[in-house]
Amino acid sequence: MAPASIFEQILDYANRANPYPLYAELRETPVTREADGTYMVSTYDEIVALLHDPRVSSDPHNRPQPASTAAASPPGLPPPFIQLDPPQHDRLRALATWPFGPPHSPGRIDGLRPWLAETTTALIDTLAGKDQIDLVDDFAYPLPVTVICHLLGVPREDEPRFHGWTEAIIEVVDPTTGSFDQRLRRRTQVDAELRDYLAGLADAHLRQPGDDLLSGLLTETDAPGGPMARDHMLATGSLLLVAGHETTVNLITNGMLTLLRHPHVLDRLRHQPDLAVPLVEELLRYEPPVHFLTSRTALADIDVAGTTIPAGAPITLVLAAGSRDPDRFDDPDRFDPDRSDNQHLGFGSGIHYCYGAPLARVETQIALPELARRLTNPRLVVDPPPYRPNPALRGPRHLPIEVDRVTA
Ligand code: HEM
Repeated sequence: MAPASIFEQILDYANRANPYPLYAELRETPVTREADGTYMVSTYDEIVALLHDPRVSSDPHNRPQPASTAAASPPGLPPPFIQLDPPQHDRLRALATWPFGPPHSPGRIDGLRPWLAETTTALIDTLAGKDQIDLVDDFAYPLPVTVICHLLGVPREDEPRFHGWTEAIIEVVDPTTGSFDQRLRRRTQVDAELRDYLAGLADAHLRQPGDDLLSGLLTETDAPGGPMARDHMLATGSLLLVAGHETTVNLITNGMLTLLRHPHVLDRLRHQPDLAVPLVEELLRYEPPVHFLTSRTALADIDVAGTTIPAGAPITLVLAAGSRDPDRFDDPDRFDPDRSDNQHLGFGSGIHYCYGAPLARVETQIALPELARRLTNPRLVVDPPPYRPNPALRGPRHLPIEVDRVTA
């Protein structure tokens, strides 16, 4: 039997807690070909070049084999824009951006700050009286669902249903929760429920538009080509939930884990909450929630670092390896929130650069200093903590910590 390739070792759960030495090995050859014909790209400049290359597609229809269902659209809906190439991608992303960010809605995310601070405070209040906390289940997991529900205009009483759906969506990629067929059936059912729920919500928002994102998508008649067609709006609503949940959970959890491993930085954050801004960028570089993108396909022969990736070949871009490339970052394995010039790949790059980045940043910039301030003498119970199986969206399943107390 052939020895496991470096990438196969990265996929091995035994290496989930610390894949970084394997990424360093991978970078020794910037482009490698796996036995199944996939090309792995692991160095910063090469990844960025491919993320900006119009000969690289994100459309699963261009792949030789049927693509993973992990990001597929709910049954009966068109593909979400993360799976489309220009010009369809650009048209839908522009429509989705109209009610979400600059230049037309510059205040959407900044305007959320007071509400986000209140929501974070209320969630930490629920921890009062505990001396053992699971930072995943008790904090990082519920926060992003509450936020996305607020943004989409989901009534408060319906929020628990969203928590159930996000759980099922995450479980689909977790092999410990049942056979692949069982998980696929569950995912299809959840997708259909979510689609039907969003359709009902859209009807309600059309009758009585509010100041939420769904109402914005449905009524943006001033936007060129707008408003977004109803089926695209439903696919976009599901995409925001799927793309924004586990990633944000992992950023907050990886953040607390890293701070607990670097107590002097945790202490600085307690007294200097502004540190949260560069700190979050450094976390996105040093312990990113998205380790690699498996969604790309070459549309033509592409020469990269002396290797030709042939037309039709699947490409995996190992963002987490690129963000620790010593040719791009000084002393890349050092966690340094004071680092200047931190153009990490945590949110990708190019036309698919994370749409939700402003929201994820603000959420985490508020959450981490507030946890630092209110948890007295927090200590890791186990290090490393147990990880979720997923190697691409990597993060702890639980992060048990002990505290002396939770202050007001
Ligand atoms: C820390 C949290 C997050 C991380 C690390 C993250 C990471 C990423 C990355 C790496 C991509 C690029 C994917 C690609 O090139 O194929 C991406 C795209 C995307 N993200 Fe995020 N994301 C986060 C949070 C969010 C949130 C909160 C939302 C929604 C509100 C969101 C919505 C999206 C969407 C819609 C895309 C597709 C953009 C496009 O295709 O043009 N993300 N994200």
